[in-house]
Amino acid sequence: MKRLSTNEIRQQFLDYFQSKGHEIVESSSLVPANDPTLMFTNAGMVQFKDAFLGLEKRAYRRAATSQKVMRVSGKHNDLENVGPSPRHHTFFEMLGNFSFGDYFKREAIAYAWDLLVNQWQLPVERLWFSVYEDDDEAERLWIETGVSPDRVLRFGKKDNWWSMGDTGPCGPNSEIHFYWGDLATQTAAGVNQDDEYLEIWNLVFMQYDQKASGELVPLPATGVDTGAGLERIASILQGTDNDYDTDAFAPIMDRIQGLLGADAAHRAANLFRYRAVADHSRAITFLIADGVLPGNEGRSYVVRMILRRAARFGKLLGFDGPFLAKVAEVVIGQMGGHYTDLPKKRDFILQTITDEEERFRRTLTTGLALLDTVMDRLAGEQVSVIPGDQAFFLWDTYGFPIDLTRDVAAERGFTVDEAGFRVLLAEQKEKSRASVQDKVAQDVGVYAQLLAQLQADGLVPNSGVEQRIYENLAEIDSVVAGIIRNGAIAQEAHSGDEVEIILPETPFYVESGGQIGDTGEIYYFPEDTEQPVFVVEVRDTRRRIPGLITHIGKVTQGSVRVGDPATAAIDTERRWDIMRNHTATHVLHAVLRERLGSHVHQAGSLVEPNRLRFDFTHTQAVPKEELAEIERRANEIILENYAVKTRWTSHKRAVEEGAMALFGEKYGDEVRVVSFGEAEDEDGRSFSMELCGGTHVDSTAEIGGFRVVSEGSVAAGVRRIEVVTGRGAETLTEQRLRTLERVADTLHAKPDEVESAARALQEQNQQLQRELAQLRHKLAQQNSGALLDQAVQVNGIKVLAVPVEAADADSMRQMTDWLRGRLGSSVVVVGAVVNEKPQLVAAVTPDLVKRGVHAGNLVRDAAKLMGGGGGGRPDMAQAGGKDASKLAEALATVPAWVEKSLEN
Ligand code: ALA
Repeated sequence: MKRLSTNEIRQQFLDYFQSKGHEIVESSSLVPANDPTLMFTNAGMVQFKDAFLGLEKRAYRRAATSQKVMRVSGKHNDLENVGPSPRHHTFFEMLGNFSFGDYFKREAIAYAWDLLVNQWQLPVERLWFSVYEDDDEAERLWIETGVSPDRVLRFGKKDNWWSMGDTGPCGPNSEIHFYWGDLATQTAAGVNQDDEYLEIWNLVFMQYDQKASGELVPLPATGVDTGAGLERIASILQGTDNDYDTDAFAPIMDRIQGLLGADAAHRAANLFRYRAVADHSRAITFLIADGVLPGNEGRSYVVRMILRRAARFGKLLGFDGPFLAKVAEVVIGQMGGHYTDLPKKRDFILQTITDEEERFRRTLTTGLALLDTVMDRLAGEQVSVIPGDQAFFLWDTYGFPIDLTRDVAAERGFTVDEAGFRVLLAEQKEKSRASVQDKVAQDVGVYAQLLAQLQADGLVPNSGVEQRIYENLAEIDSVVAGIIRNGAIAQEAHSGDEVEIILPETPFYVESGGQIGDTGEIYYFPEDTEQPVFVVEVRDTRRRIPGLITHIGKVTQGSVRVGDPATAAIDTERRWDIMRNHTATHVLHAVLRERLGSHVHQAGSLVEPNRLRFDFTHTQAVPKEELAEIERRANEIILENYAVKTRWTSHKRAVEEGAMALFGEKYGDEVRVVSFGEAEDEDGRSFSMELCGGTHVDSTAEIGGFRVVSEGSVAAGVRRIEVVTGRGAETLTEQRLRTLERVADTLHAKPDEVESAARALQEQNQQLQRELAQLRHKLAQQNSGALLDQAVQVNGIKVLAVPVEAADADSMRQMTDWLRGRLGSSVVVVGAVVNEKPQLVAAVTPDLVKRGVHAGNLVRDAAKLMGGGGGGRPDMAQAGGKDASKLAEALATVPAWVEKSLEN
């Protein structure tokens, strides 16, 4: 057997198939493009799904890839196996060769044999082959190749039928298994049974499209889809009995051990946890690189869940604090040679990981406190089982894995109703799965039916509705090919009806790539007539299924029938606003990368007529001064008046030239490149170059102007900037200038003196405040003078209890102090209404305190009358109440109270 590194195996696989006429295609993103039926790319064939279904023509009919895949959801989910299994992963690389209507079983089998046996020299006596139960042809082909008949086994649907998900391309398959155990005990019964028989390569003979109804519809042409786990092949060619000892994983495992400062015995004793952390580190690194950031829903939830699972295992291993970024560094170092975006996004990936680990630590604290409260309550009720719904709540709200809840519970002698937890979990999963599926089925049904009908009747071209958006046509003459009314196919519709109109071709742009759809009108107004036959006001345009574009709107005049002539006219003014904003989005993207760094990537965008919204990867807020610089630079690019150029080229070339492709976007082989700001010298890059299917202005100057309206955070590691351009920028500037003028008028200043005038006003205001406070103080003291006369004698002691005017309790205290100072040995109580509430402040001189008069008790008792309470020290106290009308009454009780307290 050859001994090869993972990188060598990947390269040799691709080279082999290139030598057999295959196009080498890059791995697609882990986020499947435009495919709501799938959470993550889970096989090499995903990016070729439409090619198998005959919906998409490619420039080649044979391809080979090394594809990044995730198997954590839906039909292919290996999460629970990761750790215990030596060869299951959430993330791995799948080597594959593909034929789209080109070769079939014979060649697929011959290539696999040639590469494994002749080139890599795998021992034939360790190989086993399985075929689908009725696939005589595949069995015969293996035997003709040289396999001994007793090594070709037949299995049923469970093992030898492959489908991508609940719907999509599928067919019988044939698998190659490698036996790595003791040759003497090898037996056919072990295949698909024992761990010692390792499935290494799956050849799928694509023949059908699996419909949601269960029906199998034959594909337009048969094809081949194969998948070989790169890490498993490596384990064979490197002579290890598991993936984690290959060069794909060993350095990661070593890093974990090194960071822990642990020895081999620790690793052996905690092997499953080491493996899970290693596996999960690869998964989160690649997911974040593909733009999937930790969050609470869908894909984002998965990356959060995997990351927290790894953090949790890490904690159990002995890590105290964030450590995963240090493990991810090894992943990037090791795989960055092939997946070159990893080193480019390095800092962003590492920062995102650490941020999420810290966030987890915080929710962990909250969740643990909650769990403690739950256990306290249960303990009080003499219950020792934590109910399933509580465990589920912790899982759902705080991301608590069930094993965490179990561990914490066990520490206090509790158990968890895990069966109850699982029921709730399953219910939730079923709910979200059903809602996705219902939606897909319901949306697609009627449109698919209509498209098939229109194509069969020749009413729309075979490729579907033709879009004529790049000709910048404002209107075209066409004919009504189809109508949908009330969710059903209709022949006509009348004034007042909500409809979707289908034309064979359209100048309307369909919402995609963030640019929203066009609005406008579809009408028929024959010459020499007074009235249109019909007018449909179009408020949105959608691509319901590939090939079918519908214009959504309302019939506002007359009646429309299938077959009627029709003029389709877009709202051009609105479209121009949209185009300005779209080109401005590219300007902003390029400026952000120029100023903030190349870790900035588009994470989402919305291009509307009145504004643009741009989400991008960046971990900190953009300071105000930087925003101003960004705005200034964008306006500079606009003034440069760069011509906006569009051209079609191959995806590969575009990426080689440095065009920016977006996360999760699907690009065909032919892509449209939009660029501007071309440098003069030969290898000079364009200022902006992006793959984009949207509509743009012809030169940057047409954007007209660029104003940032806001900047903020949308999710962990993602910032959002909103911008207005063209007329919007003009309106904004206009409004701001008018406001400035009005403020200037109010301040009696010139517009450019407004700032100093406002500052002067502020200073003046502060000065007045100070003077006012002094005057209030003086006034209060003067008033106090007249009050002294109101003191009464109680058993020879001076007692003063009076209402006063005071702005706050502080002034009341000052007055009380002052009055006590003047009266000498005395009891002083002042009352005032502060903020509509009655307040009392009392002061008692020390000699009387000694005689038992307690200021705190005094105000407490008096305040009771006002519906309040309070208290304090014996010499000084304060109390408040609710009922201001009782203030006088409360004060009146004071002399008698003092008398009584002296008696005691
Ligand atoms: N698509 C097939 C698999 O994933 C090759 O196993």
